[in-house]
Amino acid sequence: MSNPSLLILPGDGIGPEVMAEVTRIIDWFGAKRGIAFDVSEDLVGGCAYDKHGTPLHDDTMAKALEVDAVLLGAVGGPKYDKLDFSVKPERGLLRLRKEMDLFSNLRPAQCFDALADFSSLKKDVVAGLDIMIVRELTSGVYFGEPRGIFKEGNERVGINTQRYTESEIARVARSAFELARKRNNKLCSMEKANVMESGILWRDVVTEVHEAEYSDVELTHMYADAGAMQLTRWPKQFDVIVTDNLFGDMLSDLAAMLTGSLGMLPSASLGAPTENGRPKALYEPVHGSAPDIAGQGKANPIACILSFAMALRYSFDMGDEATRVEKAVEAVLADGKRTADLLGEEGVTPVSTSEMGDAILAALD
Ligand code: NAI
Ligand code: MG
Repeated sequence: MSNPSLLILPGDGIGPEVMAEVTRIIDWFGAKRGIAFDVSEDLVGGCAYDKHGTPLHDDTMAKALEVDAVLLGAVGGPKYDKLDFSVKPERGLLRLRKEMDLFSNLRPAQCFDALADFSSLKKDVVAGLDIMIVRELTSGVYFGEPRGIFKEGNERVGINTQRYTESEIARVARSAFELARKRNNKLCSMEKANVMESGILWRDVVTEVHEAEYSDVELTHMYADAGAMQLTRWPKQFDVIVTDNLFGDMLSDLAAMLTGSLGMLPSASLGAPTENGRPKALYEPVHGSAPDIAGQGKANPIACILSFAMALRYSFDMGDEATRVEKAVEAVLADGKRTADLLGEEGVTPVSTSEMGDAILAALD
């Protein structure tokens, strides 16, 4: 069997800095655990524009469609702000998501005990929190037609349309049920079936998929506004949550911030299962290219490292190895190591990006 293949796209700003620490972990897996990956590296975003005049070269796109998983750092920066919309760095990322048809966006909210004081919520509400929000990413109100600003009599009217087909709901539901099976067999689906027809269809289809294929998973339904309340009141009641594009956008940001810093948050975007059973997949930190700290060795590499851990778990069926990486991160935080973004306590000297990488590698050993 061939090695699992990984395309690395460090991108712009702090992207290459945080990705360098992931590369060291990949090398560690080869040297210490005998797990070799076929790794290739390429350009995306502003750096790709600088070289090719496009934020994503066709060859890079083709490679992304071939590999088992893509790991991306971040794109963009002030240098590219004036570029035409069609070649902006973000377009590279959007093209990847679109052509890989990544309809299922996984956003974990996980609280490391050592950082529980960072939360705006009480420590006992967030300590030990580990939930996953699955957001539908390629349909819904951000894409539905008709859309636009129209003239109606003597005033303007802005229109967007929430539109979901059965198959769009069913495929993201399956992706969430599969995830629930890999975790604690518990899924909560959120919509507004009380006031939206698309929500009624959402609830019906999720229920049908559940009955036909996943009756072993415990399924509950909740209105999304009630879900927002419950997420801030007692988030530990949830394990996996599945919801549409709009509600998922808000609920995943809300859930993420229960646990602290942008420098800690990984994500995955998954598509349909391919011939080998693995979904098309793109893994990336939630944060951007952080131009304010780029090139200074200050960036927190943990979000990118945890994104790689998600790749181990969801693309390569290496759940134990993923846990190993997550435990190493946890140990290093418990040991008091902090990059500058995680500083709360007085008198703690921050570690650099590579020192954080050193500590995580040592903890892996
Ligand atoms: P940002 O996430 O880059 O930065 C927001 C703040 O968080 C900054 O103060 C930054 O220093 C800090 N921060 C972010 N990641 C950090 C890390 N790993 N360690 C320590 N501190 C960290 O968002 P911003 O400033 O809105 O955007 C900057 C650029 O990034 C823009 O060009 C934007 O378009 C792009 N961007 C790219 C994204 C992507 O590649 N997926 C996502 C969001 C923004
Ligand atoms: Mg958002």
